[in-house]
Amino acid sequence: MASIRNIVILTGAGISAESGVATFRGPDGLWEGHRVEDVCTPEALAADPALVHEFYDMRRAKLGTVKPNAAHHALARLDAEWPGELLIVTQNVDDLHERAGAKRMLHMHGELLSALCAGCGARQRWTGAMPPGQACGACGMAALRPDIVFFGEIPYRMDEIEAALAQADLFVSIGTSGAVYPAAGFVRLAHHYGARTLELNLDPSEGSSWFDESRLGRAGELVPIWVAEILADGGQAPPSA
Ligand code: OAD
Repeated sequence: MASIRNIVILTGAGISAESGVATFRGPDGLWEGHRVEDVCTPEALAADPALVHEFYDMRRAKLGTVKPNAAHHALARLDAEWPGELLIVTQNVDDLHERAGAKRMLHMHGELLSALCAGCGARQRWTGAMPPGQACGACGMAALRPDIVFFGEIPYRMDEIEAALAQADLFVSIGTSGAVYPAAGFVRLAHHYGARTLELNLDPSEGSSWFDESRLGRAGELVPIWVAEILADGGQAPPSA
């Protein structure tokens, strides 16, 4: 078995569930109360900006009431201690990975704490409510919107992600249902490039059969165990027993 040096980790809403952030598709999921096409598309933003802004205002406000859990802390530990390449790609728009201390990470679906100018493309940090028609700090146009990748828009930093997947020896997917592309296709891409693949999730994801190994359970329990294993192995052993 080849040794593991380069790791790509994909996280989804399930990693933040034990922090009290609602997932999207579970029984208590966010989509239970809102139709996705009412809040998460450019068309919805144009048709009813107040509704879309209010939805994200509520989620932004919720960030102040939650904190990173054991899974976020374990990945931050891995980030600090792993000697090889590491990239944590999160689909989450919360800031819990950063608050746990992770550095080698990116948000492919945007961030609640960021505002994007639909006019000039500038970004600025945003922590409070964002009523429609806020002026951009860079160009002055009243065109700020939540810095969230809506359905029909292209996720951020795909070139970086694909380059990391092409170099990965190990791809790990944590707390994501595998329902939304392109993230749901990363396992196949990683497999194609020759990486081993591991899933840590409460339930088997939609693409579960693509993984070399699936461990089912709560992220807060599974992730610290896996991180301790891989750090102890120093990348010399496969991720599965
Ligand atoms: P989902 O809500 O679709 O899936 C969450 C997954 O986490 C499910 O497979 C659950 O079984 C699992 N899960 C729940 N609690 C868990 C726990 N404590 N430990 C481990 N796993 C747990 O969320 P995502 O897959 O992240 O996009 O959704 C993908 C994208 O769909 C989101 O980024 C969002 C949404 O549309 C945008 O906002 C652009």
